[in-house]
Amino acid sequence: MSKEILRTKVKDLLSMEAGQDVLAKGWVRTKRGNKEIAFIALNDGSTIKNIQIVVSKNPDTESLLAKVSTGACISVRGKLVESPGSGQAVEIHAEELEILGECDPVRYPLQKKDTSFEYLRTVAHMRPRTNTFGAVLRLRSQMAYAIHEYFHKRGFVYLNTPLITASDCEGAGQMFQVTTLPLENVPRNKKGEVDYSKDFFGKQTSLTVSGQLEGELGATALGEIYTFGPTFRAENSNTPRHLAEFWMIEPEMAFYDIKDNMDLAEDFIKSLVKYALDNCRDDIQFLNDRYDNSLIERLEGVVNTEFVRLPYGEGIKILKEAIANGKVFEYPVDWGTDLQSEHERFLVEEHFGKPVILTDYPKDIKAFYMKQNEDGKTVRAMDILFPKIGEIIGGSEREASLEKLENRINELGMSRKNLEWYIDTRRFGSCPHSGFGLGFERLLLFITGMQNIRDVIPFPRTPKNAEY
Ligand code: 4AD
Ligand code: MG
Repeated sequence: MSKEILRTKVKDLLSMEAGQDVLAKGWVRTKRGNKEIAFIALNDGSTIKNIQIVVSKNPDTESLLAKVSTGACISVRGKLVESPGSGQAVEIHAEELEILGECDPVRYPLQKKDTSFEYLRTVAHMRPRTNTFGAVLRLRSQMAYAIHEYFHKRGFVYLNTPLITASDCEGAGQMFQVTTLPLENVPRNKKGEVDYSKDFFGKQTSLTVSGQLEGELGATALGEIYTFGPTFRAENSNTPRHLAEFWMIEPEMAFYDIKDNMDLAEDFIKSLVKYALDNCRDDIQFLNDRYDNSLIERLEGVVNTEFVRLPYGEGIKILKEAIANGKVFEYPVDWGTDLQSEHERFLVEEHFGKPVILTDYPKDIKAFYMKQNEDGKTVRAMDILFPKIGEIIGGSEREASLEKLENRINELGMSRKNLEWYIDTRRFGSCPHSGFGLGFERLLLFITGMQNIRDVIPFPRTPKNAEY
């Protein structure tokens, strides 16, 4: 009787010394062979690489091998030996082969002939089994780890902010309502308005668009905090850079001014890219070789370059000059209007050729909480714009003055009812502070080189799409 051996992951098998008895489990990528032997490429998700299984054909194995088709799940016990073939150092010579789960080759949704990203989105429950999505999802996990590590090393407190909220942080009115009221028979008050006192929370609530306001409560008590969680925007934008449900990392720091904020954001993002290059090389190399052979160069470029820091007004001047010199944009450029991604990309990709931190935006296109500049027109905002992505980070120094904050809230006609707790931070021991939000999927777009944000999150939520 063979002694029992534990399963070893493919990633570890590939770096083990030949000569040992091993047990591998995983999903069949391909099977090929001749009359005498079959070669199976086996993957278990631990690495982009497969391990080669060699099975000699005999009456016993023939019937099993017939069931070894792409996608099938198998278990193989055998000897790890040096591989004579190129492409791998070791392979397994199978002694026992077991089929754990057959896979109907005709109905299996992942066929060689159709692997377009559009098609794969329609079978998103299966696409993690592809090489590309395996690489992307491993990178996603690694980057989440790198983010926690970055902040923990620097003494930031990880703060969990609520997903259900009664306040609209960004004031853009793009919130998904959360309610248990019967939609077919909504209770109304005497004025005929919806009676939210009858709703689950006794008031109107939504899914949060940002954890920042609660993050500020944390920073003004704990010093430096960060949040990392899902955020929701009912923004009807069908673009390759927008999701209705995306993850955001929001650090918030007491005693940081806008410059400290920019320094942290730049260092943070460079550290994350460097982490990916240092620790996720196989997956990045795969994506580079398969889709975009300037990916690694682009990543290294960001790590080794100083970001441009430029006031919004200067950015507008550059864009206007470009137009005067014949550059054509779809949208107009004027001081006071929000930049479109074509403008952002022009600045980053064509004009400067590197990431740009744009500061001091007009107050009317930014949220109420940003610190107002002396000029009365601009606020101490900072957006980081990246090649191929556009805005990857949005942040600011916060308005610390109670009077100025209240004036701005009133000026915008915002309801203070659900904001008094926030305003208290300025009433009781107010301090200068700053923070920013990094869109996790936008970071992943940059790091993986993928073109569409739907392809860097396992189960994307976009307008008219909430499958799985
Ligand atoms: O610029 P935003 O709206 O800023 C905030 O929410 C602030 N409260 C952040 C802060 O200062 N704490 O969003 C921040 C980032 C954007 O730069 C972008 O990377 C990402 O979140 N983002 C989205 N990512 C995917 N889909 C969407 N619909 C996104 N909207 C914003
Ligand atoms: Mg923004």
